[in-house]
Amino acid sequence: MRRYLILMSAMVFAAGTLAPTAAMSAGQYSKGDGNVSNGKTIYEQGKGDVPACNSCHGVDGDGDDNMGTPRLTGQGFTFLLKQLEDFATDKRMDETMFVMNANAKGMSPQDRRDVATYLSQKRNSFAGSDLKELTANGIATGKTNFGKSLVEIGSPELSACKSCHGYAGRGAPPIYPVILNQRYTYLVSQLKKFRDGSRANDVMGQMRAIARKMSDDDIHNAAAYLTTAKSSTPGNIHTPYTFH
Ligand code: HEC
Ligand code: HEC
Repeated sequence: MRRYLILMSAMVFAAGTLAPTAAMSAGQYSKGDGNVSNGKTIYEQGKGDVPACNSCHGVDGDGDDNMGTPRLTGQGFTFLLKQLEDFATDKRMDETMFVMNANAKGMSPQDRRDVATYLSQKRNSFAGSDLKELTANGIATGKTNFGKSLVEIGSPELSACKSCHGYAGRGAPPIYPVILNQRYTYLVSQLKKFRDGSRANDVMGQMRAIARKMSDDDIHNAAAYLTTAKSSTPGNIHTPYTFH
């Protein structure tokens, strides 16, 4: 327990350095302190050489399984900003469409803050990928019941995802992103990237340590459950972070 607390405070410190000012003092459930209307304009129209975000992430910001893009709306502000900063500094490489590093660099630090603020505040009712449709398209999908046990209980080798990401993966800001109702193909691609180390921007290697122990089946099962799960859990009606 003591070790865990020390770990947590080290991570809070690490995340705090990214958004040290008003956003952090507004509390860990910060929705961002940027300019929402500038963020919206960038999201819908792009800026300079940076294309409109909605061309890949969808008009409602709920991502696209065919392109492998993530849902962005309702994700925590601090996490979104961290990802944009990590792309801008090549700490995280987009090896799916090879665009996000240039997109992040093409925005000013304030633009990145503004678009992260806009997205963290925008809600939609997306309830996850359509697993039947993905299966019909020949994509390997997992078993939700096995995935549920990994997410909620874990296994002798794997910590339960909920121990960091909250019940059903609904997020524990500022560090742990919402993975509930995220796009199936994106969840699978990121877990594989953490597993092979091609994504290495996780603080203290936490996600890589988990993903290294996951088989392909574990990844498909966890992703199948997470994309379709409900945010409320019987017996745990308090949602730490409401995202839609
Ligand atoms: C040409 C397509 C494309 C455009 C345009 C685009 N993105 Fe992306 N974006 C992607 C892809 C693909 C990924 C996933 C990268 C990976 O696999 O690591 C991504 C990932 C992200 C992530 C990481 C989310 C997470 O959960 O970790 C953020 C944040 C993001 N994009 C924001 C934006 C913003 C803001 C814009 C507009 C300025 C934008 N994107 C424009 C394709 C695009
Ligand atoms: C010890 C804590 C911890 C545990 C347990 C954990 N994660 Fe994570 N996870 C993280 C952190 C920290 C990040 C954010 C990395 C970053 O800053 O980019 C993350 C990020 C992710 C992402 C990328 C989200 C995005 O939008 O880019 C996925 C997917 C993910 N985790 C899935 C899982 C799954 C599935 C499990 C259970 C098998 C799990 N995690 C267990 C700490 C954890």
